[in-house]
Amino acid sequence: MRYKKRKYFMAGRINLIQRSKIRELFEKARKMENVISLGIGEPDFDTPEVIKDAAKRALDEGYTHYTPNAGIPEFREAIAEYYRDFYKVDVDPNSIIVTAGAYEATYLAFESLLEQGDDVIIPDPAFVCYVEDAKIAEAGILRIPLREENEFRIDPDELVEMVTKRTRMLVMNYPNNPTGATIDKRTAKAIADIAEDYNIYILSDEPYEHFLYEGAKHHPMIKYAPDNTILANSFSKTFAMTGWRLGFAIAPPQVIKDMIKLHAYIVGNVTSFIQIAGITALRDKRSWDALKVMRETYAERRKLVLKGLKAIPHIEAFRPKGAFYIWAKINPELDMSSEDFANWLLDNAGVVVIPGTAFGKQGEGWIRISYATKKEQLIEAMDRMEKALETL
Ligand SMILES: Cc1ncc(COP(=O)(O)O)c(C=O)c1O
Repeated sequence: MRYKKRKYFMAGRINLIQRSKIRELFEKARKMENVISLGIGEPDFDTPEVIKDAAKRALDEGYTHYTPNAGIPEFREAIAEYYRDFYKVDVDPNSIIVTAGAYEATYLAFESLLEQGDDVIIPDPAFVCYVEDAKIAEAGILRIPLREENEFRIDPDELVEMVTKRTRMLVMNYPNNPTGATIDKRTAKAIADIAEDYNIYILSDEPYEHFLYEGAKHHPMIKYAPDNTILANSFSKTFAMTGWRLGFAIAPPQVIKDMIKLHAYIVGNVTSFIQIAGITALRDKRSWDALKVMRETYAERRKLVLKGLKAIPHIEAFRPKGAFYIWAKINPELDMSSEDFANWLLDNAGVVVIPGTAFGKQGEGWIRISYATKKEQLIEAMDRMEKALETL
């Protein structure tokens, strides 16, 4: 079939969305041979067998129909139970919506809460979707810089300074993509207090909650600002289930009601047998055992890469305590932008890293290195980077 050439009408809002700037880099890498990618943003592990088996069984048992929009009640209960057991936070299952990953949870929060005339504060650097979600919601965007001297935590004093009458929402994401930073209890509480005092919602995106190192702890924001927090979470990273598209949001009753309303006309419900597998993921010890192995493997790789980077000239790593990323500074004396540096590394070392500017202006001078890659590949990549950068 061939389409006729004719004028194509499109909604202006689509023009607002920016496709990822790193596409060109990946395109270029795709055409090259023997490239090692440290650009990956997803686990390289397979989903634990026990979860896969649960999905297969659910299919055979007839979970092939629509479910309630907000999700299967038993699954919502299992999520609430998890927060109770793991974090000692009381969550009403009715405050939970099952979503197609944290992406959908985030999108629903932006679309239900913001409109033209509202402002949202988004960290810089930050994971790419928040800014695009804000544009679709036609909200004003203010970026709060994350600084190395603050270990890339939001500075509560700076936050208060930014708040105006128009501020409706603050986005947080700890453990953080791209910096690997974690949040401490004191900062989490201070931010919660500001949100309560100024009546601002916090969208807290927490999909890396289980990837913590060197004794770091996670602080779910619903613990400190339950009436103001929309918590987005996901099975993607925790149980290596990126392709399953399974996540959820926890939010105050009036917000969750609106999110469900919107979700009902987009997704309807998350795939029924996948929700059933989600119950197993949360309740079966074997999936937690698998997570433990994954976390230990990441911890080992993290050490390996941090040690390897020490020997490599012209890059200096921030020591992250979370996620599976390393945020590293490029020697300013090289006088290369992040994008130039990433391109240079691809050309001269055959290694893909993500230029920091993909995550915001503050990312200039930085790169993101992912260690969600096999150990042998990481060793080889470090070796190549060292040899190439020594020539500069
Ligand atoms: C911070 C952050 N939030 C959300 C997502 C999207 O996750 P999901 O697969 O749950 O939609 C990602 C994926 O990389 C992420 O890094």
